[in-house]
This record gives sequence, C-alpha cells and structure tokens, in this order.
Amino acid sequence: KKKLKDEIYEVNRLAALFYHKYLYSKFGQAALKYLYDRGIDDITIKRFGLGLSPANGLELFNYLKRRNYSIEVLLKAGLVLKGSSGSYYDRFKNRVMFPIIDEKNNVIGFGGRVMDDVKPKYLNTPETVVFKKGKTLYGINYAKKSKEDMLIIVEGYMDAIALYQSGLDNVVASLGTALTIEQGRLIKKYKNTVVISYDADEAGIEATMRGLNLLDELDLNVNILTVPNGKDPDEFVRKEGFDAFKKLLQKTDTLIEYKIKKYKKDLDLEKPSDRIKYIKKVCKDLATLKDEVKRDVYISIVSKDAEIPENTIRAEIDQFVKGFL
Ligand code: GTP
Ligand code: MN
Ligand code: MN
Ligand code: MN
Ligand code: MN
Repeated sequence: KKKLKDEIYEVNRLAALFYHKYLYSKFGQAALKYLYDRGIDDITIKRFGLGLSPANGLELFNYLKRRNYSIEVLLKAGLVLKGSSGSYYDRFKNRVMFPIIDEKNNVIGFGGRVMDDVKPKYLNTPETVVFKKGKTLYGINYAKKSKEDMLIIVEGYMDAIALYQSGLDNVVASLGTALTIEQGRLIKKYKNTVVISYDADEAGIEATMRGLNLLDELDLNVNILTVPNGKDPDEFVRKEGFDAFKKLLQKTDTLIEYKIKKYKKDLDLEKPSDRIKYIKKVCKDLATLKDEVKRDVYISIVSKDAEIPENTIRAEIDQFVKGFL
C-alpha cells in the first residue's frame, strides 16, 4: 500500500495538470487573458505549471473520483471540502492556480488567485501532511539549481514569476509570511548569500527587518534590495524593465547599511533623545561587525550623523561587545 504522503503528491500532480489543461480549454480564455495582461507568456505559464480551477466547484472532484482516488486522500490533500449537505466540492473555484513545488519536485500544495478584487485575494492549501507553509519557499525547485551562489527572496508568486521571466533563475517567494528559521535553513542548504526584495510598503519593511536578523543569525550574507516608489518587484520590472532591476541588484544595501537607513528614517536626528537612540542602536549593530575596516567606515558616518566624537562611539561599541562576551 502506498504511503499517504505519496498519494497526496500523486493527486496534487494530477490536479496541477488538470488545472493547467483547463486554463488552455475554451473555459480558460478570461484567465489566460488575465495572465497575458499581467505580462506572463505561455513559456512561463508552462514552466510554472499555472492553471485555472473550474468555477462550478465540482469538476476536479469528479475527475479525481473517476480515477478511483479515495475521498479521504482528496480531503487530506486539501483539494476537496465536505459541504454541510454531505456532498463534496472543490476548495479552489475560479482561481488562477499556482502549484507549489518542493526541492524534490513534489507538488505539495497550491495558491489560487482571484481575477478580480474579491477577498481573499489568494487562497492557499491548508496545512496538510505535506504542506507546511513556514517550511516552503515557492520556486526553490528551480532556484536550487541556479549557478549563482545567491538567492533573491520576494514576497509573492507573481514577483518570483516575473523575475524568472525576465531572466533570473534564482528567485524564491516566501508567500507573504514572515520568514521562518526553517525557510532560512532551506536556503542555507543551497546558497550562502541572499538578497531580500520585499514589497516597499510598511508590511514589507517590517518583514525585511525580521527576515534579515534571522538570516544573519544563520550566517548567511544578507543584502537588501529596495524597490523604489512603493512598488513590488513584479510591478517594478514590468514598468521599469529588467535592466533597471539589475541596476538595483548592483546596489543593494548590506545589513548594517539597511538598518542605519531605517533608523534614520524612523528617528528625528534633530531631537537629542532620538539622536541617543540612534547611536545606541547603531552601536549595538556595529558591535557584531567583526571587520575592523568596515566598522571604522560606519563609525565615521555615525559620528557625522549624530555629531558626536568617534571615540565616544568606539567606547559605546566596546560596552556592547563586552556585553556579548
Ligand atoms: P498580486 O496582486 O497578484 O500582485 O499579489 P502580490 O503578491 O503582490 O500580493 P501581496 O503583496 O499582497 O502579497 C504577497 C503574498 O502574500 C502573495 O503572493 C500571497 O502568497 C500572500 N497573500 C496575499 N494576499 C493573501 C491572502 O488574501 N491570503 C493568503 N493566504 N495569502 C495572501
Ligand atoms: Mn496583501
Ligand atoms: Mn505586500
Ligand atoms: Mn504584486
Ligand atoms: Mn506585492
């Protein structure tokens, strides 16, 4: 007898193929237009196995039943729900489907997007025995094979897909969640350097701060790419072009640079109390920086910003270093 996990992988793969075929059927015209309007071409649709779930909420269930899969497996895969009348129906209805594939090429779950402004915008497979949201990175099946020793982390499916279509092959999406330690370890298995490129909104900035601390603690080299004008990477490449994105990739911030910028943005250095906070925060960060040259460069910057002598900053950093020992 097959293991439950393997049965779920199998029905998920069949479901992905079903959704993909349905996208290219006569019922898929609006969805296909939706994707084309968002700049996604057929090659990319195929590469990511994008699809469409039927609107009536019955067809996937019937299709898989006809193939003799047990209802129990369909429920446990998260593909099917039991209605109050005791009948079964598809979880995903009339959504553009994004199969989520793990590092071993198993289809572990799906994201489904509405094509209008209805909420929720995205519906994901619930936690199942094979789908653990915080342990997954969308695109890892491709990114792990990239020759680059660097990985770009974005928030959304469409960000990852748009960057792949532009020519990158080392992008993953964390799927809206704050980055977890498991996701960090998954990255560390394959790469040493990461570039975080989250949405340039409040939520994205907060997620970046948490993510960079976590990745830094796993001894990854962390850089931050800030997309200008509040856009996300998908919108940016579509409007400004791939060369513009590559330029941003050339001038990412290091962890310390990003934090210094963030503190300056959040604090008013004209105010003495904020200036003190600024110095303390930066000194704490600089205490973790082992490279003397780099440290000296930042000390001179902070000294000018906060208008206090470099030696005072040095003494403050030494306090923190002692604190760590
Ligand atoms: P598009 O509008 O298609 O470009 O989506 P987006 O990726 O730009 O959306 P957003 O920045 O709001 O969210 C980033 C990621 O968070 C998405 O790709 C999803 O994985 C996830 N997400 C967003 N909205 C929802 C939601 O309503 N429910 C769930 N479960 N996840 C969501
Ligand atoms: Mn959102
Ligand atoms: Mn967002
Ligand atoms: Mn977007
Ligand atoms: Mn976004």
